[in-house]
Amino acid sequence: MNGESTLRELQELEAAASQELGQARSQDDLERWRVAYLGRRGRLTSILRSLPSLAAEERRGVGAAANQMKARLEQALEKRLQSLQAEVASRLAEAESIDVTLPGRPVAQGRLHPTTQMIREVCGAFVSMGFQVMEGPEVEWDYYNFQALNIPPDHPARDMWDTLWIDWADDRGRRTMLLRTHTSPMQARIMEQQRPPVRVVVPGKCYRYEATDATHESQFFQVEGLAVDEGITFADLKGTLFEFARRIFGPERRVRFRCDYFPFVEPGVDVGIDCFLCRGAGCRVCKNSGWIEIMGAGMVHPQVLRNVGYDPDRYTGFAFGLGPERIAMLKYGIDDIRLFYANDLRFLKQF
Ligand code: PHE
Repeated sequence: MNGESTLRELQELEAAASQELGQARSQDDLERWRVAYLGRRGRLTSILRSLPSLAAEERRGVGAAANQMKARLEQALEKRLQSLQAEVASRLAEAESIDVTLPGRPVAQGRLHPTTQMIREVCGAFVSMGFQVMEGPEVEWDYYNFQALNIPPDHPARDMWDTLWIDWADDRGRRTMLLRTHTSPMQARIMEQQRPPVRVVVPGKCYRYEATDATHESQFFQVEGLAVDEGITFADLKGTLFEFARRIFGPERRVRFRCDYFPFVEPGVDVGIDCFLCRGAGCRVCKNSGWIEIMGAGMVHPQVLRNVGYDPDRYTGFAFGLGPERIAMLKYGIDDIRLFYANDLRFLKQF
């Protein structure tokens, strides 16, 4: 062993090491390479270990060359490691890249129930005329649903509303709690709570003990309206409801008022519009009459005003009640009210 042959051995080793390093394809390859050349039992180490057997004057030169070479190999290893990592990262980025030309996944979009939409449209029409929106309880006292509205216990007018009673009786055994049969009890509740002027609409669910058919449901909605102030006349009722009819059913609508009976209004009317489908000629929607009934209304009965502590000589008002499902049926040609609550998506998706 002499210095010259050791130097040659080092050169060969470096050449072999460089070539092999270039072929490394993974971090495992690099680790094997490191162990083979730079490890404690590696080839370079064994050369370094043999240095003491060289002549003293050769030892320094060869030792320095060996150490420089070691440093170069370590640097080359570090560089190769970095470029491998970069390769892996770019291969990953390639594999995970997004094809922006692919169609997106559709997001199923929900929508408002047709009844909700109709209620909003109806209330919106009145809000734009200065009415407020309020809501009230579905479980109601007999007092508000009937008595405050001028319908005493056992009065035959109660037959107008087939009532679902709550099993709750007063000390005389009379049932006093029910599911409201209309939104009119809110007339009394609101007037009890505030002084005139009153201008409110009240959307809400109502219940009736009734067999269902194409035009009757045991649960349905109403929108109640109430306006009370000094000097309100039947002309205000007509003007307000006429404007409402035109907003919902078109600007050329005609409106008709016919006498009707509700215990809490006097006079009471049913409000009709000329048929917007056949314009009065007669068709299926208007049952050949040319007219469609859209709500009940009237001037608030003096007794109702008295019941809530209003002076009927000073204040007058009008009230109305309509069924948003019925309005939607007319407007969209829906022929069965039960469709609204059957939860059939084929129906609901059309709105
Ligand atoms: N509450 C009545 C009903 O359900 C409708 C109505 C309301 C009539 C207000 C007149 C005034 O039949």
